[in-house]
Amino acid sequence: MNKAFNSKQFRQVLGNFPTGVVIVSGIDKSGLPQGVTIGSFTSVSLDPPLVGFFPNFTSASWPAIASSGSFCVNVLAEDQGELCWRFAKETVGRYEGVQWTPAPSGSPKIAGAIAYIDCTIESSSQVGDHLFVVGRVQHLEDVSGSDKAMVFFRGAVAGVSPLT
Ligand SMILES: Cc1cc2nc3c(=O)[nH]c(=O)nc-3n(C[C@H](O)[C@H](O)[C@H](O)COP(=O)(O)O)c2cc1C
Repeated sequence: MNKAFNSKQFRQVLGNFPTGVVIVSGIDKSGLPQGVTIGSFTSVSLDPPLVGFFPNFTSASWPAIASSGSFCVNVLAEDQGELCWRFAKETVGRYEGVQWTPAPSGSPKIAGAIAYIDCTIESSSQVGDHLFVVGRVQHLEDVSGSDKAMVFFRGAVAGVSPLT
């Protein structure tokens, strides 16, 4: 760690940057649904259509999802705070009571999300203590009528809608 700041300060200052919140989902080798809350999701390229995110080396879910070669990004709505924390903090029962349908890749589309981005894994590279995973978008859809997204800011979640 840099001598000018410690890891707590790093997290605190970076927490001033608001992000959207997604659950990256997939099906593991046993056929079970897996998923993890991710704030580092971003659009990367239009042509070819690429998106990306940064899972920690310590992530248990990502290797299980990656074994299938694909994943689905579930963009969370404002009212999915409980799912956000469950898929970040609980290690078992993340899908208990959760309604989902398979995306074309088979990865779960979690009911109530405002958009779904179904991807195959294009590349995965090491960046510090994280991986940079790039996905090639194969299918996508947004859900009409769902217009309040979740944002993560200073350790808490809130809702945001267009200003129009
Ligand atoms: C709002 C929010 C955003 C998060 N973003 C990321 C992220 O971008 N990358 C990451 O590795 N973990 C992120 N996490 C933490 C993971 O969700 C958490 O470490 C989880 O327990 C990992 O589960 P796993 O070990 O099953 O993969 C985030 C958590 C929250 C609440």
